[in-house]
Amino acid sequence: MFIALVAFTVGTCTPKQEIPVYLNSSKPLEERVTDALSRMTLEEKVAMTHAQSKFSSPGVPRLGIPEIWHTDGPHGIRPEVLWDEWDQAGWTNDSCTAFPALVNLAATWDRDLARLYGDCIGAEARYRKKDILLGPGINMGRTPLNGRTFEYMGEDPYLAGELVVPYVKGVQSNGVAACVKHFAVNNQEVRRTATSSNLDDRTLYEIYLPAFKKAVQEGGAWAIMGSYNLYNGQFNCHNKRLLCDILKGEWGFDGVVISDWGGCRDDDEAITNGLDIEMGTWTNGLRGAASDSYANYHLARPYLERLRDGRATEEQLDDKASRILRTIFRTSMGPEQHFGSFSSPEHYAAARKIAADGIVLLKNDGVLPLCPHQGARILVVGENAYKMMVVGGGSSNLKTKYEVIPLDALHEAFDGKADVVWERGYVGDTTTVYNKVVTGQDLRDGRTPSQLLADAVAAARDADYVLYIGGLNKSKKQDNEGTDREDIVLPYGQDALIEALAAVARKMVVVNISGSPVAMPWAQQVSAIVQSWYGGSESGHALVDVLTGAVNPSGKLPFTMPLRLSDGPLKTPRQYPGIQEEGKKWWQEYYDEGVFIGYRWYDTQGIAVQYPFGHGLSYTSFELADASVKRSGKQWTVSATLANTGEVPGAEVVQLYVSDTEASVARPAKELKGFEKVYLNPGEKRRVQLTLGLDDLSWFNADAHEWVAEPGEFHALIGFSSADIRADIPFRYEK
Ligand code: BGC
Repeated sequence: MFIALVAFTVGTCTPKQEIPVYLNSSKPLEERVTDALSRMTLEEKVAMTHAQSKFSSPGVPRLGIPEIWHTDGPHGIRPEVLWDEWDQAGWTNDSCTAFPALVNLAATWDRDLARLYGDCIGAEARYRKKDILLGPGINMGRTPLNGRTFEYMGEDPYLAGELVVPYVKGVQSNGVAACVKHFAVNNQEVRRTATSSNLDDRTLYEIYLPAFKKAVQEGGAWAIMGSYNLYNGQFNCHNKRLLCDILKGEWGFDGVVISDWGGCRDDDEAITNGLDIEMGTWTNGLRGAASDSYANYHLARPYLERLRDGRATEEQLDDKASRILRTIFRTSMGPEQHFGSFSSPEHYAAARKIAADGIVLLKNDGVLPLCPHQGARILVVGENAYKMMVVGGGSSNLKTKYEVIPLDALHEAFDGKADVVWERGYVGDTTTVYNKVVTGQDLRDGRTPSQLLADAVAAARDADYVLYIGGLNKSKKQDNEGTDREDIVLPYGQDALIEALAAVARKMVVVNISGSPVAMPWAQQVSAIVQSWYGGSESGHALVDVLTGAVNPSGKLPFTMPLRLSDGPLKTPRQYPGIQEEGKKWWQEYYDEGVFIGYRWYDTQGIAVQYPFGHGLSYTSFELADASVKRSGKQWTVSATLANTGEVPGAEVVQLYVSDTEASVARPAKELKGFEKVYLNPGEKRRVQLTLGLDDLSWFNADAHEWVAEPGEFHALIGFSSADIRADIPFRYEK
């Protein structure tokens, strides 16, 4: 038999010996891009710059270049949705591993776990044939009220920057682009599509940009998502300053800029100001539409008209198309074939490990780890012991194969040893469906609030332990996209319930499950407090691992836990949630607090907090000794010896803050500039070395548009939280 092996030029039937450069994945990326671009028509290029469905944008079918499939992000792979709808499509092969919320990852302070997270979620995306993962989110915790705090990595740019880099690298090692969001100064959900964040350059560069810059320059992120809000009066999905000048100019970003879904607002700016792909604007997304046609997108018909009559240039279009092609050649047509893996035991194990390692032990008088005597009675109170939390919250909503709730994990752990009983205590959110993802739980309860409280208190009287598991959930005005909270007080009368339980309980542990800070006025009345998070599929197991000591807690707060909202830096409606001004169409918000957010505010003002940034206890104890600072050229090595002085293996995060005592401008009392998470066995010691460079001493001089390290005295503050500084070593920088 005769078999002819003939390669064809795609789209024609002309026999050819060599495959075209753009199809040859062993050719250099830029050669492939140039080659593909040279074969494309104007219409094909424009087609690529806007969506064709809720979560996809076109490729070039004639040339065999595949479409791009986008997916949320950032905690798992969103279930398949209908072509034009947010609702899940009802596929039966798309139940993913739900990973812990990003705030939970941030609380691990562990770069290796961020890499593991990225590796796993990237593999899940690839298996589901997704090319762009819409995440991670790294907006700063400017206010604890932000409804999306749970999707972000805390209040500190250094911490978020250090964790976003390995996350991005992990995702992209699977041939999936990480789309870092939401760029930029998008720090609230209230009127998120109608508010201009107005701030000075020093604040922008010191607080709100560094994590994005690291994601781009060190993480090598292939995609960035523009945010809904405006910055200094211009919408961020086509904000010239942010996208053209800073992202693509100063930082040299060569990837693709994608609009948030419905975030594109203007034909001309969409073309000229750095946007590459417009998603979700005219398809009943976030804004109403005259028509559901993708052809009416800003970057569709209006763009073509402008190209044809000369108002827009093909050169600019080529830049957008090149970036889109680059993304395709890095992902689905990348040089390495990736197939990914999905919902695997390994991914569930990773989710459990990350969730557990981010749980923060805030207080412990010795009641934890739980070690009940045979036959002890453990009363569990609180809706969050029972309610499934993976579902809901907005675009991070997931459909997972399973979710282990804390109550089931407790029964599993204490089976045959202790008697675990549950009292609900309050009724919070009984929703069990989101975007047609159904948990199957029935959360209805006919009792009145006072009956629920009375029942819980009665049961607490003869319990050996009361384990309260409450906090927030993902309903509106809590940890939820599209709304902000109104206060940091716990909802549903939980403070009164906790106090009533504490008054009768022999030993009481409070587990707060939330994605953002809450007030804890009852902190002195209970034996132990655990900050847990939306931990994903394995959340119950992870929590119980920590409660029983199977995992020694090592999480650290990625944000400050204030005593009350009014202690924070945002004092006026001008600062938050924004004001309306005469003659201005959009709401205006002024970042008058400057660089002083989070612990930068509390520590500089000397305001007491409930628990400081970086705080988290262990079942063992650690000591830090022999701290020193050594200079070599323009670098300083800060060293100290960490010892595990307790009885069990555990991990501590050695944190390095810098204080600039002779600055010519107002600077925070201290700023995080280094950390390392160290695992030690009992009795073991390790010398930890953290390096400071000139960048770490610098502030951003807006007038000169440069970072400045001023000669003078600095302090290296090394310890276990922003408030628990074990050594304060002055050093000098002279030019
Ligand atoms: C959110 C994004 C998300 C997008 C797609 C928007 O509403 O702000 O974070 O990726 O929807 O679901």
